[in-house]
Amino acid sequence: MTSSKPRVLIARKIFPEVVQRLSQHFHVQANDADTPWNPAELVAQLQDKDGALTTGSQRIDGELLAACPRLKIVANMAVGYNNFDVAAMSAAGVQGTNTPDVLTETTADFGFALLMATARRMTEAEHYLRAGRWRNWSYDMFAGGEVHGSTLAILGMGRIGQAIARRGAHGFGMRVIYHNRSRLDAQLEAECRATYVDKNTLLAQADHLVLVLPYTPESHHAIGAAELARMKPTATLINIARGGIVDDAALAQALKDRRIAAAGLDVFEGEPRVHPGLLEVPNVVLTPHIASATVATRLAMANLAADNLIAFFETGRALTPVNA
Ligand code: DGY
Repeated sequence: MTSSKPRVLIARKIFPEVVQRLSQHFHVQANDADTPWNPAELVAQLQDKDGALTTGSQRIDGELLAACPRLKIVANMAVGYNNFDVAAMSAAGVQGTNTPDVLTETTADFGFALLMATARRMTEAEHYLRAGRWRNWSYDMFAGGEVHGSTLAILGMGRIGQAIARRGAHGFGMRVIYHNRSRLDAQLEAECRATYVDKNTLLAQADHLVLVLPYTPESHHAIGAAELARMKPTATLINIARGGIVDDAALAQALKDRRIAAAGLDVFEGEPRVHPGLLEVPNVVLTPHIASATVATRLAMANLAADNLIAFFETGRALTPVNA
């Protein structure tokens, strides 16, 4: 006997309790191996499904959609959705959703942690200690840049950018400047104690430049050799947005030449590959795309993705749609 429950694919391993929840509503097939499927494997798994729960590592494009005619919704367990070809999804009548809000504060915490680790050279110092090289206190040993009272520059002033601005302004007495496609309204600017500047001013005045903008064709290599050349030699660059926004080859060279002091990177062009030049220089803190990775936040993200699937099939309306 076949039931009329929609068929849903969970494309990556997620919390068992969320799989369990989804199984109460749908015929669920889950990728328990936690190895991302390649595009052909993903199509093979998705061909007979009505919905999918994905992470940022599954590309949903026109070619895949043409091969999956039953598909009605793809719920991304991420706030970023540059893995979606939104125009192709809309043309195919496929709803896309993401997970905004639930990860804002956690991601901002991590952005700030990365900023501080980078400015204060924490991982470099730890490697030195672990390697048994620490002999004496020394006046300039791992002397880094100031965080409190410095200029925090934010490129991309959405929810996460604002949460970082608040931490910097209210917690660390930083002067906050930002650049964004559109200016915040006066009340939000006042809350964040943030001043709008053009991109060149942002680059030139930054002590710590934090990237929090979405990855789009327009933001591809928004930070390359020319932009790095505009920054102070004492500045740091923090990327918790997406690889591809930074030209990693140009950044590796700038770090090697000490064009800027240091970088903190959670995301990489073509990740999980990391540009070899970045692995060679000491003045960079590298983490494997974990800015939203607390247990509570990842669970909230998985549950919101699940809620989107449930709401969509029960009411016809997703909770956090990215296309109309
Ligand atoms: C997001 O939510 O976009 C993160 O990068 C995935 O953890």
